[in-house]
Amino acid sequence: MTLKLEPGTRLVVATHNPGKARELAEILEGRFQLVAAGELGLPEPEETEQTFQGNALLKARAAAEASGLIALADDSGLSVKALDGAPGIYSARWAGPSKDFGLAMKKVEERLEEVGAEDVSAWFTSSLAVAWPGGPAVVVEGRVDGVLTFPPRGDKGFGYDPIFIPEGFTQTFGEMEPAAKDGMSHRARAFVKLKAALL
Ligand code: IMP
Repeated sequence: MTLKLEPGTRLVVATHNPGKARELAEILEGRFQLVAAGELGLPEPEETEQTFQGNALLKARAAAEASGLIALADDSGLSVKALDGAPGIYSARWAGPSKDFGLAMKKVEERLEEVGAEDVSAWFTSSLAVAWPGGPAVVVEGRVDGVLTFPPRGDKGFGYDPIFIPEGFTQTFGEMEPAAKDGMSHRARAFVKLKAALL
């Protein structure tokens, strides 16, 4: 069976994170009719898997079953080499219940100091999953490498953007114009793969 997403298809976007929803909408460029999971009152499932791909799939499947629509989900995060890939799939959870990313970025800085790390390499990963209600699913992954900088710089992005400088650049994701980030982000790279698979 070939899976295809026709232009104009109604897609439920299974994220409750406004920053991710906005970036996904920008990356999808009006190709689909997007419906937010929050708008449909869909619950946010617990992320019980141990990989980005597993959690993306879990969120897409849950939204597809609950809504009866084809669902798109993203699971993403920041991985720091000197911290053995942490916070990784726990990126959102490091910000605590109040979703305080100032706190989460401080935690990254403190952990790096604790291990005495000189290597500040890090990368963002985005897994995108599309699931059909009661049917198959496709999952892809994109990554962007870079280095961390402290203190945080810029207020244009979200999450860990202010401490991440992508390879080949001097500005953090937090300082870049959204269009520049969207052109090369982990999410954009995952979407290129998704397009190759489904469009
Ligand atoms: P989840 O995919 O909902 O588990 O959340 C992933 C978390 O990773 C987000 O809450 C952000 O803090 C972080 N994250 C994912 N993508 C980005 C990004 O593009 N910039 C900054 N932080 C990100």
